[in-house]
Amino acid sequence: MKFTILATTLAAATTAIAAPSTAKRDLYPISVTDLTASYYDQSKPETTLVNFKMSDPNTNIDTSCNAHWSVGQAATIKFNCSDPSYQLSFPNGIYNVEDFLIEISRPDGSESGKARAYGTSWKCEKHDGYPSETCAWDGVFHVGIGQ
Ligand SMILES: *[C@@H]1O[C@H](CO)[C@@H](O)[C@H](O)[C@H]1NC(C)=O
Repeated sequence: MKFTILATTLAAATTAIAAPSTAKRDLYPISVTDLTASYYDQSKPETTLVNFKMSDPNTNIDTSCNAHWSVGQAATIKFNCSDPSYQLSFPNGIYNVEDFLIEISRPDGSESGKARAYGTSWKCEKHDGYPSETCAWDGVFHVGIGQ
């Protein structure tokens, strides 16, 4: 009887140990630095220019990304980063420079993730000039990555 209990316990322990090795490898968030967005509304369509540098700890690839998105443009459009194995997109478009979604993905489907640029770390200033508003992320902006 004792042996049966021990065997069962051992089997359960083995299963518990074995489980993580069959699970998907965890992906680390991409670190985005020098994130800025500039909003131009002096002529139509209103356009936002987004720039940043990114570092992917999963691949050890660093690249920079920049794109300008205009009102009326498809939200599905993807822009190549300097390294085209990374792409930038804006899943909801950019209708408010103070609050929008940034998506980073790899065209081979190995990684994708979204994060929202808004809140107290997103420092925005309005100007009379051109652009009419600029925002800059204070610190490192993290984009959580899934598959
Ligand atoms: C993005 O990069 C891919 C791969 O290098 C290339 O085939 C494609 O034409 C590029 N797209 C644009 C819009 O430059």
